[in-house]
Amino acid sequence: MRYNIAVLPGDGIGPEVIEQALRLLHVLMQHEKVGYNISEGLIGAVAIDQTGSALPDATLDLCRESDAVLMGAVGHPKYDLDPSAKIRPEQGLLRIRKELGLYANIRPITTYSVLNQASPLKERLVRNVDFVVYRELTGGIYFGDKGRSNDGSEAFDTCKYSAGEVLRISHMAFRAAQKRRKKLTLVDKANILETSRLWREIVQKVSKEYQDVQVDYMFVDAAAMRIIQQPAYFDIILTENMFGDIITDEASVITGSIGMLPSASVGSNNALFEPVHGSYPEGAGKNLANPYAAVLSMGMMLEYLGLSSLDQRIRNAVNAALQEGIVTAEINPDRNYTTTQVGDWLVEFLEQNSR
Ligand code: IPM
Ligand code: MG
Repeated sequence: MRYNIAVLPGDGIGPEVIEQALRLLHVLMQHEKVGYNISEGLIGAVAIDQTGSALPDATLDLCRESDAVLMGAVGHPKYDLDPSAKIRPEQGLLRIRKELGLYANIRPITTYSVLNQASPLKERLVRNVDFVVYRELTGGIYFGDKGRSNDGSEAFDTCKYSAGEVLRISHMAFRAAQKRRKKLTLVDKANILETSRLWREIVQKVSKEYQDVQVDYMFVDAAAMRIIQQPAYFDIILTENMFGDIITDEASVITGSIGMLPSASVGSNNALFEPVHGSYPEGAGKNLANPYAAVLSMGMMLEYLGLSSLDQRIRNAVNAALQEGIVTAEINPDRNYTTTQVGDWLVEFLEQNSR
């Protein structure tokens, strides 16, 4: 078995953090004698600059033929500042999700005790926080009909969900809960939205097949408060596309650094792994970006490919590094390591702890 891995470094700090992830991948695959091919593709602002499209067809074809996709980051400020720009880097992201059918976005919110003091929350609130958000990624208001009235003075976006769309991610989230602390919270706005009532209906039905999982239902505004007041309450959060977008950003900061958080976007035939952080263009090329999120995303990819023991080794290495204080400047401005130095440390650790 040889794994075909598509790598899309993207914009800003994306290429630098991906480079470190690939170094580690290489070490692990060599130790295990697992064969793999890496093929690089373009996405985001670099793709627009070179081809005029944020997601060239060649990249899409490459991803379709791959067993998994590892991505850096997408986005450049020159497009954010121009509301009339016709082509934007983010379109590449939305299109790749839709075209590859990546309907479940999985974002683990893991805290590390050595980083707790970097959290904006009190340390006692952050202790033992460990939950995973399952965000629906290819439906809802992101992809519903949208438009303007003829004179441009009115605009609309439509939120639409089918039972099938809710069902497939619900099953995935329940199965994940069974492997964890067996608790699932559906986050919605069922007091107002018809789509949320459909979500509740389906989740109530699905929950009958998972009797060992305790389910509760929370309105998104209340959930936003709870994530701050009692984040340790959550185990699995299941939610629709836009609520998931918002609460995953909220949740990411309580860990102390968004630079630590990996994510997976999974569909029936393909999966894409990327750090939660953005392209941070101001930091590009300076060798200061935190590579842990990219490294951990690569670990999630190995788990998806059936190589969970290698993912475990990555996580052990990351834990060991954090214990030693091997962190980049946004975590510890006084004693910090560069992107490549963090990579060096992890490579060394994996080589010494390979057997
Ligand atoms: C994310 C991002 C994207 C989203 C943007 C860049 C399109 O915020 O992955 O959460 O809104 O889904
Ligand atoms: Mg977001």
